[in-house]
Amino acid sequence: MEHQRKVYQRWAPIYDRVYRGLLRDSHRTVAKLAAEAGHDILEVGVGTGLMLPYYPKQCRVTGVDLSEHMIAEARKKVARDGLDHVVALHVMNAHRLEFADRSFDAVCLPFVVTLIPDPERALDECARVLRLGGEIIIASKLGDGRGIQGVIEEAVAPLVHKVGWSSAFRISRISEWAERRGNFEVADIRRTFPNGFFKVMRLKHRPASV
Ligand SMILES: C[S@@+](CC[C@H](N)C(=O)[O-])C[C@H]1O[C@@H](n2cnc3c(N)ncnc32)[C@H](O)[C@@H]1O
Repeated sequence: MEHQRKVYQRWAPIYDRVYRGLLRDSHRTVAKLAAEAGHDILEVGVGTGLMLPYYPKQCRVTGVDLSEHMIAEARKKVARDGLDHVVALHVMNAHRLEFADRSFDAVCLPFVVTLIPDPERALDECARVLRLGGEIIIASKLGDGRGIQGVIEEAVAPLVHKVGWSSAFRISRISEWAERRGNFEVADIRRTFPNGFFKVMRLKHRPASV
């Protein structure tokens, strides 16, 4: 976690210039899907707030991030661009979300789930703060471990880790989490720019039938 904080302290001033274009398609897709699930939205790992302008204005968005330096950039963006739909930004660890149960209609994790030391624990937290029938929406480089791409992803993983990314995270890790819980279904997996390199995954909460 300390490693992540240090890496993103260095990234904070230049992150937008490097990633805005590369992540735009995924960001737009996630924000649109979240807004379709409802207006109260939590964004985990909000970073510099690159995705914040893409939520429709009627949303009420709360963002959290481990890095105070990334959050500081997000705060500047919200003030500068008048993003009034952003209601709060907090420094917070995805492992322990300081919100009451069933607070949000959608919880988004754009380009963060693969970086969290215990992603299942973070997903449990997302599930806890989600309302009945809500959605968890994840965007990341999610591989299936197959073929030459799987071999390359494993090989470059230590290198990629140094710059605060992850390459070897398997999509099955998330679907297995959903299966184990029994009350989430994988509703959709979309391939996004560039050429399906990133994926957006929608997990829908299935309330227990009475
Ligand atoms: C690759 S950046 C993505 C930022 C933003 N979501 C985006 O798509 O542009 C990853 C972000 O996740 C944050 N992060 C890493 N581990 C975290 C954790 N355990 N809890 C909350 N945020 C975390 C980092 O500080 C960083 O801002």
